[in-house]
Amino acid sequence: MGGEVVDRLLERGEKVRVLTRNPEGARRWAEAVDVVTGDLADPGSLGAALDGVDRAFLLLVLPGIPQAGPIVAAVRDAGVRHVALLSSIRAGSARDSAIKQVNLAAEAVVQGSGLDWTVLRGGTFMSNTLPWAPSVRAERVVRAFGGDFRSSAVDPRDVGEVAARVLADPAPHRSRVRTLTGGEVITVAEQVAVLAELLGEPVAFEELPEAVARAAMVDRLRYPPAVADAMLTMLRNTDESLVRVDGAVAEVLGRPPRSYREWAADHIEAFR
Ligand SMILES: NC(=O)c1ccc[n+]([C@@H]2O[C@H](COP(=O)([O-])OP(=O)(O)OC[C@H]3O[C@@H](n4cnc5c(N)ncnc54)[C@H](OP(=O)(O)O)[C@@H]3O)[C@@H](O)[C@H]2O)c1
Repeated sequence: MGGEVVDRLLERGEKVRVLTRNPEGARRWAEAVDVVTGDLADPGSLGAALDGVDRAFLLLVLPGIPQAGPIVAAVRDAGVRHVALLSSIRAGSARDSAIKQVNLAAEAVVQGSGLDWTVLRGGTFMSNTLPWAPSVRAERVVRAFGGDFRSSAVDPRDVGEVAARVLADPAPHRSRVRTLTGGEVITVAEQVAVLAELLGEPVAFEELPEAVARAAMVDRLRYPPAVADAMLTMLRNTDESLVRVDGAVAEVLGRPPRSYREWAADHIEAFR
């Protein structure tokens, strides 16, 4: 997601610094951005990245980051004035879960830090379907857990564009919690159907056993077990309080959010 924000900021002609654990991954921007190596899990490593920075896009809910407090303190103490925090739509759910709690905790740290802040609660990213590409390419099949899961999935480019607007001109967005969704509710099975239509060939959907999906989250993606269980519950049993389209993307960007069809058409070569 950070990359989407960088792209949108560069389009706006902003000066950008990127903090990454892996500077190789930032090479695509060549000279266009200032790249600094650091690790959010080691707040002491953030000093060089933050020197001279006055606005920051921050992700705090990440594997291996148990505490947001020291990171936000380092950001504030370095002189940053405004933070756009990427949170999750699940922070606003009527249903309690580990995902809701970790995101609310991160929001609370930023909101209580003395920094100016904007909270961006991202809906389900359309790019969560990109990991389907290898099996779609090889076998024309998607294997995933939760085919009936419904969401108002959002294009990460729209989230990045909202974040870039916030960072470019924070005043109208100060102390606002924005929920960023797409413009339509779509199921996982319907997303598979869109890919099939764009490819012009059938694509099968095979429901993964829950234990297999859980093992992938915990072992490969390094999700804490409580978060993996919350994800599985979410995918098994759609949270109706979140199945809604929010107007924030359209309001901030002055145009409708991109659809899953647009996202898929722009990424179809990965699936072909
Ligand atoms: N996926 C969704 O549907 C969704 C929806 C709403 C909100 N979110 C939130 O969006 C955020 C990113 O999700 P994603 O799916 O885009 O994940 P992702 O693709 O795995 O991206 C995570 C990014 O965070 C960076 N990162 C991870 N650990 C780091 C560390 N210790 N220090 C510095 N950078 C670190 C990584 O950068 P480097 O490897 O370059 O260091 C990577 O680019 C998460 O906070 C998630 O809760 C996701």
